Amino acid sequence: MCGIVAYIGSKPARGLLLEGLKRLEYRGYDSAGVAMLNGGMHVARTMGRVSGLEELVHKDEQFNGTIGIAHTRWATHGEPSERNAHPQGDDAKNGYGIQVVHNGIIENYSSLKQYLKDKGHAFTSETDTEVLAHLIGELYDGDLETAVQSALREVTGAYAIAVLCEKEPDVMVVARKGSPLIVGVGKDEYVVSSDSSAIVAHTTQAFLLDDETVARLTRDSFRTTTVENVELTPEIQELEYTLEQIELGDFEHFMLKEIYEQPATLRICMQGRVDAVDGKIILGGVADFEEDLAKAKRVLLLGQGTALHAAMIGEYLFEGLAGIPTEVEFASEFRYRNPIVEEGTIAIAVSQSGETADTYAAIQEAKRRGAMTLGAVNVVGSTISRETDAGVYLRVGPEIGVASTKAFIGQVAVLTMLATYVGRRHHLAGEDMLDALNSLEQIPDHIETVLKQSDHILKVTRGVVNRDNWLFLGRGTNYPVALEGALKLKEISYIHAEGMPAAEMKHGPISLIDKGMPVVIVATKGSQYEKVIGNMEEVRSRGGHVIAVATEGDSEIQSHCDDVIFVPDVPEPLQPLLTVVPLQLIAYHAAVLRGKDVDKPRNLAKSVTVE
Ligand code: G6P
Repeated sequence: MCGIVAYIGSKPARGLLLEGLKRLEYRGYDSAGVAMLNGGMHVARTMGRVSGLEELVHKDEQFNGTIGIAHTRWATHGEPSERNAHPQGDDAKNGYGIQVVHNGIIENYSSLKQYLKDKGHAFTSETDTEVLAHLIGELYDGDLETAVQSALREVTGAYAIAVLCEKEPDVMVVARKGSPLIVGVGKDEYVVSSDSSAIVAHTTQAFLLDDETVARLTRDSFRTTTVENVELTPEIQELEYTLEQIELGDFEHFMLKEIYEQPATLRICMQGRVDAVDGKIILGGVADFEEDLAKAKRVLLLGQGTALHAAMIGEYLFEGLAGIPTEVEFASEFRYRNPIVEEGTIAIAVSQSGETADTYAAIQEAKRRGAMTLGAVNVVGSTISRETDAGVYLRVGPEIGVASTKAFIGQVAVLTMLATYVGRRHHLAGEDMLDALNSLEQIPDHIETVLKQSDHILKVTRGVVNRDNWLFLGRGTNYPVALEGALKLKEISYIHAEGMPAAEMKHGPISLIDKGMPVVIVATKGSQYEKVIGNMEEVRSRGGHVIAVATEGDSEIQSHCDDVIFVPDVPEPLQPLLTVVPLQLIAYHAAVLRGKDVDKPRNLAKSVTVE
C-alpha cells in the first residue's frame, strides 16, 4: 500500500527519505517520488522501484535540502505511471509551488475537480491527490497550515498527507483521517511516516495523529490542531519496535524469519496471560468487560485474507470451547449486508495491521448496530485497536513479509485464549480448561519440532514444484488451515491453488485431479481422521500426488500418501497452530524454487487500506 516518509531538520534529507521509503517497500507499491525544498521546489518521480528514484536524485545537487516529502504509491485512481506518482503539485501556472504526498482516497474528488476546473485549474494526472494539491493552492492565502485545514474541511474520504509549499520553505504540514500517520520527534527535527519502521532508525519518541488532525512542523517546533483550527496537545510516546526487530538478521527473507520466530512470538503472546498452574486466563485488555463477555449470546468474527482464516478457526473454538453460537464473515461482505446484530453480540475484528479498510468499516457497522466490539490486532495504536471497545493485542512484533505467517499464529492463539476465557464464564469445566491451557503452553515447543523438518519439506516441495495447480484439503479446524495453505502458495509462488473442506472435493474439484497433481491433505489424528483417509484414497486412485500432514507416530498414514510431514500430537482445537507451519514452509520453498520475490509478491499489499 502507499507509504509516506517526510523529514524536516538539519540533516541532509535525501538519504533519510530514500532509506525510509526502502523500509516501506514491503508494503507493496508501483511507483515512487520525492519533493524537496532547497532554494526552490524540486520534484522527482518514477515508475517502479525506490532504487530507480535513488538513481534519479542521488547526484542531483538540487536534492541536497533538509526538508522533503517522499512517497511510494500503490495505484487507486489512475494507472501506475510517472505522471500519477506522488508528489502531486498545484497548478503549474498560477500555483504556489505546493506539493502533496497522500495515502488513502478522496471520495469527492471528481466534484472538487470540476469545481477547480471551472476556476481555471488544469490537471496533469488522473489522481485524487492532484485535486487535493490544487484545492490547497486555490485556498492558499499566505499560510499553508490554514490552507490545508480549509481544504480538508471540503474533502470526504480517507487521507494521510504531507504538504510542502515553495512560499514557506521552512514549514511542513501533515494531516490524517482514517489512514495512519506518525510524527517522530527528534532534537530539532521531525520524521513523519505512515509506518513506524521508517522512523525508529532516527527517534523512538513520536506522536500519533488523531483523525482529522493537522500538524504544522518547523525545525524546532510543532503545533497540532483539528481541521477546525482548535489547538490540541498530542501525547508523545515511546515507539514500540526497535530497529533490530525489523531487520532481517541471518535469514534470507522476512517471511522465513517470521516463520521461525513463531515459537518465540507465541510465547510472548501468551506470557502473563495463560496460567496453566491455576487454570486461569488473564486478559488485561478485556478485564473491564468481564461481565459483558460472561453474558455474551453470540460471537461475530470479522476479517479479511489470512485474518479471516484465523477467524474461521475462531468459530470452531468459540462454539467448541465456549458453547456460544458464532458466525464468521468476510468484513467486506458484512459491511454491505443488512446484518442482524442481536443483543449480547460480541463482534471481534481480527487484523494484523489494524488498518484494513473493510475490517474497520465492518466493526464500526457492528458497533452501530449495538454489538460490543473487540479487536484481535497486532499493531499497537492502529485504527481498529483504538476504535474497538476493548481487545487483546497479538504481541507478535512487526510483520514485514507481505505473506502473513506469525500474525496468523498470534491471531489463532488470541482467539483460543479469548474463547477459553469466555468459555470458563459459560460452560467450560475447570478441568477441561486446565487441559486446554496445559496443551496450549506446549505449542511453542511443538512448533520448533515442526520447523526442524524444513529440509524434508523442501525436498517434498521440490518433487512437485513444477506443477501449476494444487489442492489443499482439511476437515474441522484444519479446513481453514487448508484455505490458508492455498492462500500462502498463491500469494508468493503464483501457483494456482484451491483450499476446501476435504468432503467438498467430491462436489466438483475432483474432476481436476490428474496424474501427479499435488494435493496437500491435513490428516492429523482426530474425530474425522478416518474420513480424511477416505478422501486421500479418492485422490490417489485418480493419480493425484498426496502430501499428508499427519500426527507423529501414525504408522498407517504412509500407505495412503506419497509424502508425509509429521506434526506432534495435540488436542484437535489446537492443531491449526501446528498444521499451518508445514504449509507455510511449502509455500516459502515453492516460491524460492521458482525464483520469486518472497517478501514483495507482485500486486499484493501488506495492508489494504482501501475497499
Ligand atoms: C492483505 C495482506 C494479507 C492480510 C490481509 C488482512 O491482503 O496481504 O496478508 O491477511 O490483508 O490484513 P490485516 O492487517 O487486517 O490482518
